[in-house]
Amino acid sequence: MVRVDRVFLTAIVAAYVFGSPCTFSQDAPKLDLLHGPYLQAVTDSSATVVWFTNKSCVSRVEYASEDSNNVVTAVAGRHGLIDANATVHRIPLTGLKPGTRYTYHVVSTEIVKFDPYKVLYGDTITSGPYRVQTWNPQKDKFSFCVVNDIHEKADRLDSLLNQVPLDAMDLVFLNGDMIDHWTRESQVFDGFLDVCVRRFARKTPLVYIRGNHETRGALARELIDWFPTPNQRYYYAFRHGPISFLVLDSGEDKPDSNAEYSGLVSFEPYMAEQTAWLREAVQEKAFRESRYRIVFLHMPPVAKDEREYGSSRIHKLWAPLLNKANIDLAFCGHVHLYARVDPNESGCRFPILVNAPDTIVNVDASDGQLDLTIKKPDGQVVDQVVLKPRLAN
Ligand SMILES: [Fe+2]
Repeated sequence: MVRVDRVFLTAIVAAYVFGSPCTFSQDAPKLDLLHGPYLQAVTDSSATVVWFTNKSCVSRVEYASEDSNNVVTAVAGRHGLIDANATVHRIPLTGLKPGTRYTYHVVSTEIVKFDPYKVLYGDTITSGPYRVQTWNPQKDKFSFCVVNDIHEKADRLDSLLNQVPLDAMDLVFLNGDMIDHWTRESQVFDGFLDVCVRRFARKTPLVYIRGNHETRGALARELIDWFPTPNQRYYYAFRHGPISFLVLDSGEDKPDSNAEYSGLVSFEPYMAEQTAWLREAVQEKAFRESRYRIVFLHMPPVAKDEREYGSSRIHKLWAPLLNKANIDLAFCGHVHLYARVDPNESGCRFPILVNAPDTIVNVDASDGQLDLTIKKPDGQVVDQVVLKPRLAN
């Protein structure tokens, strides 16, 4: 899928031009696309493509709608400067049409030397073609699947993905705790992302909900840069087909003062800010008038007692708002056991499906009903659920 467009004899040119000792050799690695591309932050009018190269580059995406030969070039930038000299590449495609398929290529050109008044370029690599499709509020049916708590067990994720028809999925939800913590970049690549790219994520967006384990480790603050969202927050709403989705960030599971956090978390004001956003989001006309309203959050908003601090906190903050919002279903994980929590068992007036680390949920959504099938990696069916829309509108 990757091709080198031109070989530039980078090392020789660099040594000649800069007059410095040549640190390159014939064995120097060529420019390569190491990870991705994968699709993020899809809306009905935009999508972001992310990939990684082994050398610093400037990058672009070339794309065209499938009903047009008009190729558009997209680059990323801020404050008048095109993003450059980086190994992680995030290119937003904007001005797209709802429910439309686009073909795209990713292109990266190496920056061999970045001087103030002269930049020396090296090889260019191109990868593609791939496809992306924007969300479509008019679509009458589609399928998605859900996994969570993979905790870097990429082989199990691979086996779980075998149990759903991936080509038929419009999106794949990763509902938190995909890693144990984020200390080395490889934990994300080896733990789940490379499997996702190989199996679906070049053409089917992954929606990554932050779990409590994603907040831990020295790299945790970079997660949003690798997995951008439509509003660059971990909480947002979007609509596809008959479903309005709410994505919430259930935060950490212990108080901010807990010694494990070393004084470096401040979830109390963050959860208050998120609650203020949620209060407005459930009032949106598009949300209220959807056929279904589905919530994703990593921790279940139910707690046996106050010792379950994180779940207890989000129950107090969000259950009153969600109970008034005619939620059809919530997807959670975190507890590492499969469970169905029926409405009113826990102070929540909507069903909660708590998925396990070793089960995958396949959802076929249509105007008439949601069909859920929950399977183990070996194909064993653990549960099946049929949900009618809570409000017929
Ligand atoms: Fe968790």
